[in-house]
Amino acid sequence: MTAHTHDGIDWTSRVASLRRAAEIDADAVRVIARRLVRTLPDDPTVVDVGCGGGGMAVALVESLTARGGGTVVLVDAVPEVLDAAVTAARAAATYENDTTTPTVRVRPVLADLAAEQPADIAGPAHLVWASRVVHHLPDQRRGVGDLVAALAPGGWLALGEGGLESRCLPWDLGIGEPGLHDRLAHARAEWFVRMRESMPGSVRLPVGWNTVLTDAGLVEVTAFSYLVDHPAPAKPVVRELVVQQLQWLAEVGAQRLHAADRHALTRLLDPDDPAFIGRRDDVFLLSTGTVHLGRKP
Ligand SMILES: C[S@@+](CC[C@H](N)C(=O)[O-])C[C@H]1O[C@@H](n2cnc3c(N)ncnc32)[C@H](O)[C@@H]1O
Repeated sequence: MTAHTHDGIDWTSRVASLRRAAEIDADAVRVIARRLVRTLPDDPTVVDVGCGGGGMAVALVESLTARGGGTVVLVDAVPEVLDAAVTAARAAATYENDTTTPTVRVRPVLADLAAEQPADIAGPAHLVWASRVVHHLPDQRRGVGDLVAALAPGGWLALGEGGLESRCLPWDLGIGEPGLHDRLAHARAEWFVRMRESMPGSVRLPVGWNTVLTDAGLVEVTAFSYLVDHPAPAKPVVRELVVQQLQWLAEVGAQRLHAADRHALTRLLDPDDPAFIGRRDDVFLLSTGTVHLGRKP
């Protein structure tokens, strides 16, 4: 079976970056996973759509193991991404009484969420986790409706969307104009608008996520936000992710940044340049994400 995404992003080339992000977010998503599975029935089915590097997949396997078992269904449109998440999730599984039966089963599903119905390929689910994937679908409202259709009665949708722009650089880097990070964030925001506009069949979503969840028939709609905080001096994996994020921002911002900023980025990203960002011990990672929650009556 083949599947594809609609966002023009080469996700296969981003597997290493997704894995690093999963490692860096691990502490935060572990707390979220524990919170989300607390109220589920015994032996629940939990679906992680657009599972990326598998950070939440691992956390879900761990938290379901701690409460006696269940099934984690991982859905992604990119085979290499899905494989990486499944490998990580299965490595986190434990086995019943030294048998080959895992306490938590991990089931991969390769699928394009805009083309296939989650209810058919992964439902009925007691919890659907969809983090930073719905905004990659042409019709986000329809995407949420399809996820709700995959829920069992009483099941929860946890939608990770929005939060605050992550920060990782000191304000004055000593090369180029101070405030590079803010200009990169601005360029990224413009890229995001174009990314959404250029998807075939793209539909605007002129309301907030609470409204989308309520309109989709969910009740008890709420939200909470979480923090990912790796202060400087950051460990190597954080520095590596900062380099990768900067490379990506330099790519998507190439047409939108002033020549002086592009020059600064070339130096910051050159391992042979004394200004190489990967050698600085003052980079950090600070971000927040929001999880929108709703229950199917
Ligand atoms: C930004 S990553 C989010 C990864 C992870 N959920 C997280 O929050 O860190 C988006 C993920 O959605 C997947 N994706 C994008 N479009 C998709 C689609 N149409 N169907 C299924 N997965 C898709 C990508 O392959 C990628 O793994």
